[in-house]
Amino acid sequence: MTRTAVIVPAAGRGERLGPGVPKALRLLGGVPMLVHAVRALTAARSVGLVVIAAPEDGVAAVSALLAEHGLVDAGAGRAPTMVVAGGDTRQDSVARALVALPADIDVVLVHDAARPLVPTSLVDAVVAAVRAGADAVVPGLPVADTVKSVGRGDLVTATLDRSILRAIQTPQGFRRSVITSAHAASDPDAPATDDAGLVEALGGTVLVVPGDEEAFKVTRPLELVLAEAVLARRRASGVVG
Ligand code: CTP
Ligand code: MG
Repeated sequence: MTRTAVIVPAAGRGERLGPGVPKALRLLGGVPMLVHAVRALTAARSVGLVVIAAPEDGVAAVSALLAEHGLVDAGAGRAPTMVVAGGDTRQDSVARALVALPADIDVVLVHDAARPLVPTSLVDAVVAAVRAGADAVVPGLPVADTVKSVGRGDLVTATLDRSILRAIQTPQGFRRSVITSAHAASDPDAPATDDAGLVEALGGTVLVVPGDEEAFKVTRPLELVLAEAVLARRRASGVVG
């Protein structure tokens, strides 16, 4: 039997969110963002293991947090978790989790801790697309804004054709061998902001599947407000969160 693992890079500081505890530990509805993300991932039917890359000095604290929320061992339709030390960049954090994966993992997803409200349906859809034969799968949404490139002196150099653009989310999914070789071939001095980018750099094929608005990333303070509102709406409609 083979299993799907989800790697959760959670070792960032959250500089753009402003001063405070590391972003993954910021509270959302009274519960750390990381706990929301791990709850969703461990509850997805297609997921067999969740590996969290914690801040290097926060491995014990994150392990304790997961234990406190009953998110360590497998049980009641829930996958088990493990915690590893993350690195200085997101790419390094993912690489450190990759080497810690057990032998029976054949599909690997990577999901930002900073996307705490990801629906389990999106997780299952990404796994299904990899299991259906894709090397690499990313969720994408149409771009709402007009996107322009800007050059010297803040002068616009081009207006991009919005119809061919997608805003890419996580979870991103990969055959294990594909993400492992992509990371092995990557340049640590020019880290990528997502994992599929490393596959593209090697000439690999990346499939886009429909994303989900609720998988948005909490980057700046306004997204924290949005996340609180989405969570409040879920709670009001009886969805546990
Ligand atoms: N991440 C990580 N290790 C790092 C940097 C980032 O595991 N050295 C993780 C973050 O914890 C987050 C995800 O990568 O879950 C996406 O990164 P981002 O949204 O940029 O988060 P931060 O790097 O924490 O935020 P900022 O860039 O504003 O400091
Ligand atoms: Mg960052």
